Formats: sequence, structure tokens, C-alpha cells
Amino acid sequence: MAEIKIVKATTLKEKPDVSKIGFGTHFTDHMFVMDYDKENGWHDARIVPHDKISIDPANATLHYGQAIFEGMKAYRQGNKAVIFRATDHLNRLNHSAKILDIPEIPFDVAHEGLLKLIDLDKDWIPTEKGQSLYIRPFVFATDEVLGVSVSKKYKFMIILSPVAAYYAHGFAPVKILVEDKYVRAVRGGLGAAKTPANYAASLHAGLVAHDIGFDQVLWLDGVDRKYIEEVGSMNILFKINGEIVSPSPQIQNSILDGITRRTVNQIAKSWGMNVVERRISIDEIIASQEDGRLEEVFGSGTAAVISPVGVLRYKDIDYTVGNGKIGEFAQKMYDYIEGLHIGEVKDTFGFIEVAGEY
Ligand code: COI
Repeated sequence: MAEIKIVKATTLKEKPDVSKIGFGTHFTDHMFVMDYDKENGWHDARIVPHDKISIDPANATLHYGQAIFEGMKAYRQGNKAVIFRATDHLNRLNHSAKILDIPEIPFDVAHEGLLKLIDLDKDWIPTEKGQSLYIRPFVFATDEVLGVSVSKKYKFMIILSPVAAYYAHGFAPVKILVEDKYVRAVRGGLGAAKTPANYAASLHAGLVAHDIGFDQVLWLDGVDRKYIEEVGSMNILFKINGEIVSPSPQIQNSILDGITRRTVNQIAKSWGMNVVERRISIDEIIASQEDGRLEEVFGSGTAAVISPVGVLRYKDIDYTVGNGKIGEFAQKMYDYIEGLHIGEVKDTFGFIEVAGEY
């Protein structure tokens, strides 16, 4: 195993006021870095003070976007600093790497670097309920050339940010606009990768939706423009007639295989519920809303955890889901997952990894 060099910050930053944490605006004292080139492969794994990096204006990522990222979270459990589903997130990073032709990250080095980084900055893990330390691993091309080609050099970094709820209004129903004009991704494209391009593709539609009072858009598939995909910052799930239904990343191949969505499905199965992954058309959702079978709609994601949906607008009609209130299932699932995060619910799934002790 490659040695991970550690250079500690000589002065530590002041921690933000817990009431003003927001999402992703404060960064901890250290970061993990590793470089790749053809001659040396992935090398020079190190933890150094969090600082600006210098890149050439010809940096390939700035021009052609060959980059991938992940999002996971660390929590305090008594005297332990723990990470939720770290292995799954690092594996998904490598899945995205494959799609973008980025050389596979050596799992063991990334994993050890992550645990060491969290241990070093564990005092940054917030203690407030609903807050956590967001972990952002990312990889980007570092070739300095304007020809369009797969880069020969990359940087892998992990930065950390103490965060509160993703939506400023916290755990409360959101208003979602079903998008029938713009598309996020198409089958055969990059939709299954966690890559900046998918987020760039979502910005304009998000802005338009915001301007008319919606929190997010719900993407439909880019080919038939009728199958439910995802929300972009989270996956989407439905409770229809007692069954938990969500779009299948495998069938659709243009949505992110959400790790929180998998968590929800695993937990729901352990509660004895029927869990189904399949194609779901927007017409089916509207029909099930109209005949009363649609009980709940909610999003799932690392940043958002569980986000109940109160209103869905499709083709200018607003559908109020479950009286616009937080659904019973979404509330129970949110409490259970938050309980797993902070150790109040016993982890029988093997989701929790200990990174350090206080
Ligand atoms: C996450 O849930 O970690 C995300 O990546 C969503 C968003 C903040 C980009």
C-alpha cells in the first residue's frame, strides 16, 4: 500500500457558527490529494492543508469537462467519527471513472486517505441534529492542451465541508416541477455518471423552475419524454398502494444509481415492504394521484437525505401529494436513516465505517 504523506496545517481555522453553516460554504483544515500520469499511475497520495490549487488556463477540465465526483457524509457517534457507506461511494466513483475514461482510483489508497482525513479533521463534524460533515471526493483531468482527447493526467482530491440541511427550509415538503421541455441526459450518454456535465445541464431548467416558486425539477427521459428519471440533486421514489417504487438505474441507464435510494430500498425491504425498481411513466403517476393510489412522493440523496414532495406540477397543473404534508413513510425513513447516521439505530446493514475516535 502506498504511503500517505501527511502535512498538518500550522494554524487551524475557526469553526463556523452552527446556525450559519448552510451547505458547502465552509471547508475544513485539510484535504487529500493524489496525482495520476501515464508513467507513474496514481501516485503521491498526501493529506495537506486545505488551500487553493493552481491550474493552467489550458486545463482540459475547464474546456471539456472530463471530471467526476462523489458526495458522502461523516457523523459523530458518541466518541467515534463515522462515515456512511464509504465503500459504496468510492466504488461508484470508480463506476463514473469508467464512463468518463478516467483511470480507476486505487480503492485501498482512496479509502485509507479518506479515513485518515476524517480522523484528522473530525473536530469539524457538527454535533447539531441534522448536520454532518459532507465529503466531496472528485477527480479531474489536468492535461494542458486544447485538442479534444482523453487526458493523460488527473488529480484526485477529497475536501470536507460541515453542512446543515440541503434545502434551506430543512426537512419539509418541496415543490417539484416535472420538466417537459429540457432534458438532463439520454440513454447512452453520461446520465449514470456523477459528472459535472449532468449538473451543468440542469442549471437553466432549475433557474426557470425557481423563478416560478419550485425547489427542483423532475427530469423525464430524454428519448420518450415520459419516463421518470431523477431530480438531479436526488433520486425520486413513490409510495403507490403500499409499494415503494423507483426508476431502475439498470433499465434506464441515464440516471444516477443513488446510494441513499439503495439505502431506502434495503430498509423498506427489511420492514417487509414491497420494493420495486422499474420504468414509471409520468402518466402513471398522474393517474395514480387521481385515483388515490399515490400515497407519497419523496427524494433521496446524500445531501438531501429524504426530501418529501408536497406538490408536483406537470403541464401547468399542480398535484398536491398527500395533502402537501410530510408522508408517514418519508418521516419514518428519514428518522431511521438519521438514527443510523448518529448511532441511535443499530446498523445491521454494515453501512457505518469508523474513521477515528475522539
Ligand atoms: C449529493 O447528494 O451528494 C449530491 O451530489 C447532490 C448535490 C449536492 C450535487
